[in-house]
Amino acid sequence: MTVLIKGGTVVNAEQSFQADVLCQDGVITAVGKSLDTPKGATVVDAGGQYVMPGGIDPHTHMQLPFMGTVASEDFYTGTAAGLAGGTTMIIDFVIPNPQQNIMDAYRQWREWAEKSVSDYSFHVAVTWWDDTVYEDMGTLVRDHGVNSFKHFMAYKGAIMADDEILVNSFSRALELGAIPTVHAENGELVFRLQQELYDKGITGPEGHPLSRPPEVEGEAANRAIRIAEVLRVPLYVVHNSCRQSLEAITRARNEGQRVFGEVLAGHLLIDDSVYRDPDFEAAAAHVMSPPFRSKENQEALWHGLQSGNLQTTATDHCCFCADQKAAGKDDFRLIPNGTAGIENRMEVLWHHGVGTGRLTMNEFVKVTSTNAAQIFNIYPRKGCVSIGADADIVVWDPAASKTISAKTHHQNIDYNIFEGMTVTGCASHTISRGHVVYANGKLDVERGAGRYVDRPPFAPYYDALKIQAKQAEPVAVRR
Ligand code: URP
Ligand code: ZN
Ligand code: ZN
Repeated sequence: MTVLIKGGTVVNAEQSFQADVLCQDGVITAVGKSLDTPKGATVVDAGGQYVMPGGIDPHTHMQLPFMGTVASEDFYTGTAAGLAGGTTMIIDFVIPNPQQNIMDAYRQWREWAEKSVSDYSFHVAVTWWDDTVYEDMGTLVRDHGVNSFKHFMAYKGAIMADDEILVNSFSRALELGAIPTVHAENGELVFRLQQELYDKGITGPEGHPLSRPPEVEGEAANRAIRIAEVLRVPLYVVHNSCRQSLEAITRARNEGQRVFGEVLAGHLLIDDSVYRDPDFEAAAAHVMSPPFRSKENQEALWHGLQSGNLQTTATDHCCFCADQKAAGKDDFRLIPNGTAGIENRMEVLWHHGVGTGRLTMNEFVKVTSTNAAQIFNIYPRKGCVSIGADADIVVWDPAASKTISAKTHHQNIDYNIFEGMTVTGCASHTISRGHVVYANGKLDVERGAGRYVDRPPFAPYYDALKIQAKQAEPVAVRR
């Protein structure tokens, strides 16, 4: 298929310029002024609009089996909803049960994802440890295009990784040229606080944020960062929700450590008052971990994004409908954790970021696409409108306005955490692998059209790190 995007302004991370963009057989083959229209090409009129790299959401959980149920959004509906909002690639998570063979889990997730309509890739979670996990991490990096491993420091009794697992897995990641990532919450403290609150009779959703205060997140972020420092491995901290974890990241970066931070659109825009809603359904719909925080934390997160100490924006898209959330009607600890957002991430960030002057358009591209592509080593194939890149593009109408609602969204969930928010600036067209898959409110997707994206290891940089790690004195002596 040939698509010519005509008359728009290309916005990349480093610059903006007027140009047409030609997409042929899934890749961008020309970027320039007044390109000729090839015979039979579909022409997208981008006059007055911005032509940007499609969004990359580096944190989603499609059809995740979790807390006794399965996320309602699958790889087909979820990637389609992403395309409707300008997101053309997701990085989801393979999450083996403790003791489950990691390769079996990987194959299971690959099979589930075959129905995806946009491109996808996988972080793989390390939820337990033995020699087979050590070996399988190597197989995943060498033969299956995995370059990131996830560690849940929370969810005690389920998928929590203790310090021993973190140390083993982080060291192995360094050997392999892969990047460890963490969900930073102290699972022991959460467990203790949950029990105390429940015993005091706090059984409703308001108990959820009380059991996971910012200190619990800050402690875990700092611990993971310091473990990574000692082992000399880079680290990516997912869904930072508060000042405490941002400060840990900022401090480490100022000390020269290679640490990256992600923030969710929801954490930037929704505050913790949602948990005090007397309506159980509404409050439970917002139960996710880490929880939504106070407005002061939201402001700190925006500053983190603006200063570059947080580099990526994601959604942690993990959908549970009201009937699933009802499992925790009498006990907040049983409410499945997760909220949606893949369809709205780009537009709420544009409206509240670019629209308020917090972010330039180029910074918007960085935090919604380019930085994720660079951190996870798929740049410039993704994250950039340039010759040779995959033709994953969003045409953005800065003047279009819409009011977000669960009644009209494409996400397979009965609630939208951004319900009623009016945003200015939305995707008018989304091009995925050179196909126009979304145009003026209509999706035209093909089940299974999405492709698995291999992410190579970070060889040269890590080679230097490994040499340093061998030659260096222990960290305590070095100071
Ligand atoms: O509440 C959340 N975030 N659910 C999905 C799993 C996770 O912790 O990322
Ligand atoms: Zn998490
Ligand atoms: Zn998650």
